[in-house]
Order: sequence, then structure tokens, then C-alpha cells
Amino acid sequence: MQIFISRPIPHSAITTLQSAGHAVTVSPHERPLSPEEFLAATAAADGLITMLTDKVDAPFLNARPNIKAIANYAVGHNNIDVPACTAHHVGVSNCPDILTDATAELAFTLLLAAARRAGESERHLRAKNWNGWGPLQFVGVPVYGQTLGIIGAGRIGARMAEMSRGFNMKLLYHNRKPSPALNDLGAALASLEFLLKESDFISIHVPLTPETRHLISTPQFSLMKPTAVLINTARGPVVDEAALAEALRTRKIFAAGLDVYEHEPKIHQALFDLENAVLLPHIGSATTTARANLANLAAQNLLAMLAGNRPPTPLNPELWQ
Ligand code: GLV
Ligand code: GLV
Repeated sequence: MQIFISRPIPHSAITTLQSAGHAVTVSPHERPLSPEEFLAATAAADGLITMLTDKVDAPFLNARPNIKAIANYAVGHNNIDVPACTAHHVGVSNCPDILTDATAELAFTLLLAAARRAGESERHLRAKNWNGWGPLQFVGVPVYGQTLGIIGAGRIGARMAEMSRGFNMKLLYHNRKPSPALNDLGAALASLEFLLKESDFISIHVPLTPETRHLISTPQFSLMKPTAVLINTARGPVVDEAALAEALRTRKIFAAGLDVYEHEPKIHQALFDLENAVLLPHIGSATTTARANLANLAAQNLLAMLAGNRPPTPLNPELWQ
């Protein structure tokens, strides 16, 4: 069958698909495809490996009735209308689990960098402005023993909580239902309001859904401590980016660490000028291990679905019942 992969990915996955007898076409571009390019490139495809920058919705599926299976190269799947895929009998899979460590590590990277003003002080040094150690230079906020509030108690939130034990942090979490993993770590389930008021660090680990869009906006910033640090490694639209920029500018909160943005790759202009924003380019899953595992799991998922079998990690498992 014909497989289209919308970005170059680790080659082992392509070899796996070819060894199973499929013809594989890979987009040659080191950038996301436009919707028009994506539509044109998938004209002959039976199966796709998609990125989180590719939009799969009902109009796309109507235009591409030949497509039987889609393996999303990500854990997040807000780019794919899963019910529409199910209605079209198109199998869909994502890649849970394998980027848990990498993403939690990046959330912790942002937490430490924002607390200790690592980006700001490095920019100062690289600009050759540093004139030697100073008692008042780049004073940040402490991490050890402080309170970490986790919003969203899935795998990544739980791993972040586990990592925080090394810093002896007190743990709060907000989730629709109690999490045994978080409870086992001594974390207390809290309302969003209580968590926002009490936490020194707030880390977002919810998927993007209609309910979580702009979960954090002006009213929520006004509940936070002036020393609070907000971390987002989940999805940009969960945070109202304009409200965040305003909260950082007016020092309603101390700092933010972001790996995701509301309108990627566009970033709210004000954030570029704010020294208390640590800004990374959506690299949460970017470790050697996580990216290799993403490629292999996406390939395994696609192979299974194209053979008519239930994939290892389906998003519409009802298609194989
Ligand atoms: C990355 O953002 C992912 O969802 O895998
Ligand atoms: C700082 O460099 C110190 O020695 O206190």
C-alpha cells in the first residue's frame, strides 16, 4: 500500500514500513506542510503518519476516501478529529507513554530555568554585559521544599510529580478524578482555585479540549502568588497568551516557562521582550530515545491498522471490537 509521512522521521521506521512491502513517500520539507500541500501529497495514500501540525478533519477525510489508517506522531491528538475518523472507518493511533520522561524532564528544565533566571542571565553574559559576581544579580526564587501544583494528572503530570520528590516539593494536583499515582506520591487533590492560590510552581499537563482552552487566563493569574512560576509543556491554547504576557509584564507572577504556544509557530510579540519568560520551541519529546520510540511506535501502529488489525495504541479502539 501507499504510505505518506508528512515530515522526515528517523529512518528505522521508514525501513520497517518498506520491509512490510509498503511504498513510502516522505515529505522532503523541514517545515510543516500547508493544508493545500498536505491534501495534494495524500492523494494516493492508503495510510499516513501525521505530525501535530497536520489537521485531519471531516472535509479532509471526505476529500481522501482512500485513506484507511492514520498514525499520529505525537501523544497529543487535538490536530485530529477522532470521531470523524471513526465515522469514516479510518483507524487512528497516537503515541502515549514513550515521551513521558522526556516531556516531564523538559517541564522540570523550564521550572528550574524560570526560577533561577537562567535564560535571562545567560543572555546577559552572551551579550558581554557581565562585569563580575554581584550580590543583587539575577536573584531568583527557590525550588527546594516549595509547593508544586500539577494541573492534569495523566502520565506526564505524574512523572513530573515523581521528579519533584528530589527537590522535596509539596504536591498539589487538579484533575477531574483522583489519581492513585499522585496520591501515592503524597499529592493532595485540590480545586483549581486552591491550587493556583497555594502553589509556587504550576505545571500544566492537560490535553487541549474545548474545556481546557484558556483554562488559565486573567482571573486565574490574579489568584496566583506574585512569586509564582507557570510552566506549560502541554498545548499552547490552554493558556491565554495575551493574558500571560500581561501578567508577566505587570509582575502579577514571577516568571513563566513555555514550550508550547497558542498559535505555533507564531508567538505573542510581547513575550519576546519579557525577560521573565523562558521560551523553548516545542521540544518536549526531543530526546534521542523518545523520538526513536515515537517513530517505531507510529510505524507499528500503522502496519497493524493497514493489515486490518488493532494497533498497539489506538484512539478509536471501537473499530477493532
Ligand atoms: C507533542 O507535543 C506531542 O503531543 O507528542
Ligand atoms: C558564591 O559564589 C559564593 O561562594 O557564595
